[in-house]
Amino acid sequence: MLNIVAPEPAELELSHVDVFYGKAQVLFDLSIRVERGEVAAIIGANGAGKSTTLNLIIGRLKPSGGTVSFLGQPLAARSIEQIVAGGIACVPQRRRIFSTLTVMENLDVGAYARRHDKAGIAATRDEVFELFPVLKRKAADLGGVLSGGEQQALAIGRGLMAGPRLLLLDEPSMGLSPKLTTEMFRSIRRIAEGGRTVIIVEQNAYAALGVADYGYVLEGGSVALEGHADELLQDEHVRDAYLGA
Ligand SMILES: Nc1ncnc2c1ncn2[C@@H]1O[C@H](COP(=O)(O)OP(=O)(O)OP(=O)(O)O)[C@@H](O)[C@H]1O
Ligand SMILES: [Mg+2]
Repeated sequence: MLNIVAPEPAELELSHVDVFYGKAQVLFDLSIRVERGEVAAIIGANGAGKSTTLNLIIGRLKPSGGTVSFLGQPLAARSIEQIVAGGIACVPQRRRIFSTLTVMENLDVGAYARRHDKAGIAATRDEVFELFPVLKRKAADLGGVLSGGEQQALAIGRGLMAGPRLLLLDEPSMGLSPKLTTEMFRSIRRIAEGGRTVIIVEQNAYAALGVADYGYVLEGGSVALEGHADELLQDEHVRDAYLGA
């Protein structure tokens, strides 16, 4: 008997996407496919289009060509709020934590989209505190007094509080020491092992590819190269251009 099984839709798929700011095109025919539970890294220099790609996925920008699909469903007609409620969260490049709110209050803000799901919120809060114990110790401290690494942990924790199945991280290593960067990326790996899909956008290619399964190299708004993370780490062009090797 012939058994026809429909292929699983990708967790996230960008297919031949073009994006403009006004008249200036910044993403060109961009195609990216991320599978469930995978950590994907998007690396590239200043201005390559990394943040633009995340803004596109979360719905802050709409493509003028191509499609963005999440779990096989096109996102074109959905607002940011609908996309977040549907299971995607984005931790922005400059963290934007609330300095006059406590750590706990900052986390609660992240849970707003599912504020009626008390049990889910409590479970995710436990997950966040296990991932970043410092946030539990400093739960009553104001966001503004945290160190850079603690603020980044809080920004990621706040993103997780929305209960996303896909988490987007924009330059999580920014401003962190090499040691803190290593710790941060270890925690990010654990987020994926907990069953979530993660996309990391990074200028620190070495750190991002070190924890990623698959990577994309963005240059001038297009994918210049893609492959398994360990292959990209060995690639001559990647080593010359991004790893200072
Ligand atoms: N709001 C905007 N209006 C017009 N142009 C923009 C806007 N935001 C970004 N750009 C331009 O789009 C291009 C891609 O920017 P983007 O922020 O996506 O790059 P990036 O890879 O995230 O860079 P970085 O590593 O500096 O964060 C750049 O040329 C940038 O100048
Ligand atoms: Mg950026």
